[in-house]
Amino acid sequence: MGTDAGDGYEFVVVANRLPVDEVTDGDGPHRWERSPGGLVSALQPVVRQMRGAWVGWTGSAGEAPDPFDIDGMHLRPVPLSAEDVDLYYEGQSNATIWPLFHDLVEQPTHRRDWRRAYEAVNRRFARAAAEVAAPNATVWVHDYQLLLVPAMLRELRPDVRIGFFLHIPFPPVELFMQLPRRRELLQGLLGADLVGFQGALAAQNFLRLTRLLLELGPKDDRVEVDGRTVVARAFPISIDVAEVDQLAADPAVQQRARQLRTELGGDRRLLLGVDRLDYTKGIEQRLEAHHDLLADGEISNDDVVLVQVATPSRQRIAQYQQLRERVERAVGRTNGEFGDVGRAPVHYLFQSFGRAELVALYLAADVMLVTPLRDGMNLVAKEFVAARRDEQGALVLSEFTGAAAELDDAFLINAHDTDDIKRGILEALNAESRDLTARMHQMREQIRAYDIDYWARDFLEVLGVSGAHEAEQAETAQP
Ligand code: ADP
Ligand code: G6P
Repeated sequence: MGTDAGDGYEFVVVANRLPVDEVTDGDGPHRWERSPGGLVSALQPVVRQMRGAWVGWTGSAGEAPDPFDIDGMHLRPVPLSAEDVDLYYEGQSNATIWPLFHDLVEQPTHRRDWRRAYEAVNRRFARAAAEVAAPNATVWVHDYQLLLVPAMLRELRPDVRIGFFLHIPFPPVELFMQLPRRRELLQGLLGADLVGFQGALAAQNFLRLTRLLLELGPKDDRVEVDGRTVVARAFPISIDVAEVDQLAADPAVQQRARQLRTELGGDRRLLLGVDRLDYTKGIEQRLEAHHDLLADGEISNDDVVLVQVATPSRQRIAQYQQLRERVERAVGRTNGEFGDVGRAPVHYLFQSFGRAELVALYLAADVMLVTPLRDGMNLVAKEFVAARRDEQGALVLSEFTGAAAELDDAFLINAHDTDDIKRGILEALNAESRDLTARMHQMREQIRAYDIDYWARDFLEVLGVSGAHEAEQAETAQP
């Protein structure tokens, strides 16, 4: 699937964010940095391989830069004004849809002006996609910020094939029913030819809603709309296993992992958390379990250290600011109660790291803590497994992540139950090396078989772009 910039691109991804964020330090020149989150981690290798175009926002309010090429991808920035950021991104996307789709972990707010802005910005994305797509192109729209785009794009460009993938959970029917203008959202998605979800239950919820709200007649995994067939199915997303594997094999990364362990206190066992600072991730529950284990005397500051890396995220939204305060208070409390001079039980890093440093952390860890209250997939869990070529290290994993369906050899826990998180951590710390190897071996087989390439090929083949991927691979292989 080559590209022809003259007539547009044959493969176009549309997502709220571009894979890079524009960063300006003071008056200095601007630069591009990888943007946060699992969507970008997962999609970047796919778009690069397909030499496609990516329509999205730069992460900064104001005018958008001109389209540009980077890393084998054509980027088409969509502008968001400060007001759009406020109403569409921080409002409707992240204070209405995000909490509601994550089982009301926080209370959503419903506002008419947010919905209006959401619709206007979705239309802008649809127009931008219509402009860059070649005749009969494949356009792949992503995630909860752009639920209306498929129908809007179909109106503008009935010739293109449209796929949609939701990276986060799709809520149970009763919760979806709480959304104002819920029919429009469903109709928006039904503009696609294929709607993909992280799990089978999500696809079923969606199809049931087409019956309940639109009186359509879904059958098996499809539904007829205006003489077209829309397919809804699960495509659990994965990671670029080869990228992580390569980093994990790099002697410099391995050396860095050893250095991290020494700096954290020689033979202390290392518990690790790596998340965006988001209330869905169960960071507070994890910190509470760790605190209680210290308080009960089940672990001690001499033997165990916790490193929690939290990427700054959505920092202007009140619920995220409050979460940060609570997390920082909890870290301070544990360190105050159980720390020694020069030796803290919790190292909290409110920072973003490069890929190599993350992989070094994964390699250094004895126990990886992934404890979301709700998560569509959770790529950190898969990255940790991909990094452990030594088949050591334990994964404590919340049952409420999409990843738990595939990584059932992890130490599975109920993240809503602190006692169960404690149990999981203790089991992981006390497990025999042989047991850890057996579990890690199984999990590695799983993610190697279903990596990001498999995921993309699977989705695109069902969308009817069969052969496209192979053609692209052949093209890439040419000198
Ligand atoms: P979400 O998409 O909700 O953020 P995921 O676990 O699916 O959660 O994906 C998170 C992605 O962001 C992973 O690829 C992970 O490596 C990356 N990431 C998480 N924390 C950091 C960090 N502190 N620095 C750099 N990358 C991070
Ligand atoms: C999750 C969402 C993505 C989002 C990412 C980062 O992965 O599924 O759509 O891009 O979080 O969040 P942000 O609001 O910074 O884009």
